[in-house]
This record gives sequence, C-alpha cells and structure tokens, in this order.
Amino acid sequence: MSRVMVTGGAGYIGSHVVKLLGEYGYDVLVYDDMSNGNPWAVLYGDLVEGNVGDEGKVSKVLKEFSPDIVLHFAAFIQVNESVNDPIKYYENNTLNTLRLIKTMLKNGVNKLIFSSTAAVYGIPSDLPVKEEHPLSPINPYGQSKTFVELMLKDISYAMGLKYISLRYFNVAGADPECKIGQAYRESTHLITRALKTAKGEYEKLQIFGTDYPTKDGTCIRDYIHVMDLAEAHILAMEYLNEYNKGNVFNCGYGHGFTVKEVVDMAKEVTRVDFLVEETDRREGDPPELVADSSKIKRELEWKPKYDDLEFIIKTAWEWEKKFSSQ
Ligand code: UFG
Repeated sequence: MSRVMVTGGAGYIGSHVVKLLGEYGYDVLVYDDMSNGNPWAVLYGDLVEGNVGDEGKVSKVLKEFSPDIVLHFAAFIQVNESVNDPIKYYENNTLNTLRLIKTMLKNGVNKLIFSSTAAVYGIPSDLPVKEEHPLSPINPYGQSKTFVELMLKDISYAMGLKYISLRYFNVAGADPECKIGQAYRESTHLITRALKTAKGEYEKLQIFGTDYPTKDGTCIRDYIHVMDLAEAHILAMEYLNEYNKGNVFNCGYGHGFTVKEVVDMAKEVTRVDFLVEETDRREGDPPELVADSSKIKRELEWKPKYDDLEFIIKTAWEWEKKFSSQ
C-alpha cells in the first residue's frame, strides 16, 4: 500500500499525519476545502482544493490519483458550535462522509481510516473506557461521528468496505521539529488557550467548572501527542492491508490530567504566571474521559513515544511562539 489520499490533510491532525507519511515514503495527495486548513501545512504531496461532499470532484481525484486507501480527517470539530448549529455538523461530518464513501466504492477504492472521537462515548459509565462501551454521545458533534461509525459497519458488511475507526482522545502538541502545529483561527482547546493566554493573546484563562467529582474538582482528560496519533494511523493502514477487516481503536495513553494540572504545567513550561479565572461548568463536558488503550497497543503494536504532558505542552509552546511570528 503506497498511495494515500488524505482528506483534511491541510488541517491540524491531518497535516501531521501527512508529514509522517511523507517521511515514510508514501505517495500522498491532500484533498481539503481549506475551511480550516493552511497550504503551508502540507509538507508532502499535491494539494487539491475541494469538499468531500463534491462527488464529481472526488471522483476525478480518485481516478487520477488512484489511491490504495483514503484517510478521512475533513470534519468540523467544535462541540459548542455543534450544539448551536447541528445541521452544519450532520451535513459535513455525516452526510459528506457518506458521499465520500459512496464515491470511493464507485471508483474501486475500498479502504478507509476514519477520524472518530472519544465524544462517541458521551459520559462513560466505566473508566478507562473500552471500545465496547455503548455509543452514547451527548452533543451533535459526537453524534455526527457516531452516525458514521454505524454506517461504516453496515456498508462494510454489505459492500466490502474495509475500514478502521480511530477514536481520538484529547489531541495536543505539535511536530517536534516545529514545522507545523495547530493553527486554528480561534481555538477552544485547553492547552492552546492556556498558551495563547501566556503569550498575551487573551487576558485570562477560564477554568470551566471546579465542582466535578475528581481529585481537584476539574475535568480529567487523556492528552495524546499528535505525532503518536499520526503513528497510529500508519499502523492502522498497514493492519488494514494485512488483515483486511473493519475495526475500531481508542487512541489515548490510558491516563489523564485535570484541567488544573494542565494549567500548572503550562505555567511551568512558559514561565508565565498568567491569570486564571474559575467559572461555571461548560455545557456538555463529561467529568472524565480516559482511554483504555490496551487494544491498540496489543493489536497494532502501537508504542507511543511522547506520553509526557510536559513534552506535549513544550512542543505546543514552541509552535505557538513561532506561529505568531509567521
Ligand atoms: N477547558 C477549560 N478552559 C478552556 C478550555 C477548556 O477549563 O478555556 C476545559 C474543558 O472544560 C475540559 C478540558 O478543559 O474539561 C478539555 O477541553 P478541550 O476543549 O481542550 O477538549 P474537550 O475534552 O472538550 O474536547 C476534545 C476535542 C473534541 C473531542 C473530545 C473527546 O475538542 O473534539 O476532546 O475527548 F470530542
């Protein structure tokens, strides 16, 4: 398997995976509508501008490039926005993914790695959460990805689609070589917000809720370095090639940090004692989301290299400083 089409490859996670694919010598084609992507983030392969729901354009690209597999990152990802504008999420994340799969199958491409999310679990009843946990999302973003997971199963059964869904936990950090990193115009993610506050872009960082049933009252998340996640995609591709069947894997380290622990580490790394304000809970936040990652470690032999919150925040900080000066 050597030819890889990457939808959303100009975005945060997609561009890191493209970098790793390029370094491993794969032929890459990035397909991105540039709604949240940046051309400079595509370090390998050609970039074609288009939406995954555009069946004509996707068909043309599939015919010309003839990929062995599609890695599908293109999606909207903001939980809050999804609550206020669910149609935007169901249309782009669910419907357009269906259109993409339909077009792939029409063109004889039957392998897919799908970017799913821990948000499919909602508020987990058991922690760390295993892949078999019922899917019970609590917001339209999580629901839009859950629908795709359900469709993938049926389409795989009936039409021979081979797929892997990777359920990402809290992806953070940046390329250790600092060539690329998170570059959203407006980020709501904790680590990015904390670093932008340290940089002076925001007056203060708000902590959403201090009355959760956790050790310090703030939410616990499993933060995974984006390059370890990128490596998981390479392993998933190779696995799909060898075993030729559908599967689902959690992508997290299996342990979490509270919001306060992350804030403390951000202050230590940046050496800036930025202003923090404790406020009410944010709607739709589960108290704790930690992956049981034994399955991906066992079956894909995934060996994360950057399971270290300090390193995650350091790489994000290096990028954040460089990004503002670009
Ligand atoms: N938080 C703050 N202040 C902020 C930003 C976040 O206190 O300014 C808190 C949140 O309330 C939450 C934690 O920090 O408790 C992490 O929040 P993020 O927004 O960084 O990430 P989420 O856990 O909400 O969501 C992320 C992805 C989703 C994905 C989810 C699955 O953004 O796409 O992880 O774990 F679905």
